[in-house]
Amino acid sequence: MSGLRVALLYNSKHSALLAPGSPLDALAEYDSMETVNAIERALQEGGNEVIPLEADLTLLDTLRETRPDICFNIAEGLWGDSREAHVPALLEMLRIPYTGSRVLAQAISLDKAATKHLWRDAGLPTAPFQVFYEENDLLDRHMSFPLFVKPLREGSGMGINENSVVYDEDSLRKQVHWVASTYHQPALVETYLPGREFTVGLIGNACCCADQSRKDGFYDEHGFHLFPVLEIDTTVGVGRGSYSSSAKSYYPGEEGAPRYLCPADIDPGLEATLKRLTVAAFKAIRALDVARVDFRLGADGKAYLMEINTLPGLNPALSDLCIMAQADGMPYTMLINEILRLASARYNLKKRSVLITTQYRYQETPA
Ligand SMILES: Nc1ncnc2c1ncn2[C@@H]1O[C@H](COP(=O)(O)OP(=O)(O)OP(=O)(O)O)[C@@H](O)[C@H]1O
Ligand SMILES: [Mg+2]
Repeated sequence: MSGLRVALLYNSKHSALLAPGSPLDALAEYDSMETVNAIERALQEGGNEVIPLEADLTLLDTLRETRPDICFNIAEGLWGDSREAHVPALLEMLRIPYTGSRVLAQAISLDKAATKHLWRDAGLPTAPFQVFYEENDLLDRHMSFPLFVKPLREGSGMGINENSVVYDEDSLRKQVHWVASTYHQPALVETYLPGREFTVGLIGNACCCADQSRKDGFYDEHGFHLFPVLEIDTTVGVGRGSYSSSAKSYYPGEEGAPRYLCPADIDPGLEATLKRLTVAAFKAIRALDVARVDFRLGADGKAYLMEINTLPGLNPALSDLCIMAQADGMPYTMLINEILRLASARYNLKKRSVLITTQYRYQETPA
């Protein structure tokens, strides 16, 4: 075997332990075995030996037994306000290389307000916001209705429903109470962004020296490859204007799903803005290897950053990043192996991850 010994770290829906009284969408963040199996197959096709490991309380022991060269990390974590950072922290402690963002970036991206503070400091556009740590917190004077209420640190559209947009203080209080009591965490309240919704994926790193694929033009001169912009039309399907966990549970094209348009039908100016902001948003939190950044247009028609996903879903049929890669002509196997290659390069794990993206688009480059 010429590839790497890769431990694939995940938390599956299948073996998640739910506390009594958990919300209906409590499992939405966890991966299906369909996703885990697809990544395993892709890594094997890339010439690697793959050892799938559930990232539960046994992980310290199973990692020590397995002794991987590197981990492919999709673990969402089990609990706590920085749960997505737990597995990276354990891997740092054990000095085992891993794909994707490190501890701090994973903790920041899970906390949408922490992310927005960094973006605002960097001069990036994100909607005005306020965190309700206590249900009776006073509404800041700079916040004006309509507002949008969501959990501070969830993903996969959890806690988003037909009551998330609020038009007055009474419905704001009710929704903040519902979020706090259902998800046991603060509520993030933001200016409602009524416009079109887009998400932009990227792979790459700003830091590395020029490598073969960058020379061949797959990555731009800054080290990033941006996938075509994906528009999600949530006026279609069960989402009722929001990309909620129920809207995300339908396969594209299925009755109930939103309409996915990739590449989005937008003018080149907006496309350039979305891509520029995606890279800036990624760099502002010091993300690594891969991410997906979500946007909406505000009432003023301008693009606003909503959040960044440093563990973007990787289900080959369902996940936004995979839809974009497909529209870009990049097969799933290559997407997965390229993420591994980016991480391997950062750790100087040379030669072994072999499936290079040149195979599908570099022929265009004159010799
Ligand atoms: N300020 C806002 N104004 C309008 N809609 C919003 C706003 N914030 C969130 N939404 C809607 O709720 C959805 C989910 O919000 P967000 O992307 O912040 O959460 P998430 O659950 O972390 O998403 P993901 O599934 O991408 O991890 C958005 O895709 C959008 O449809
Ligand atoms: Mg999102």
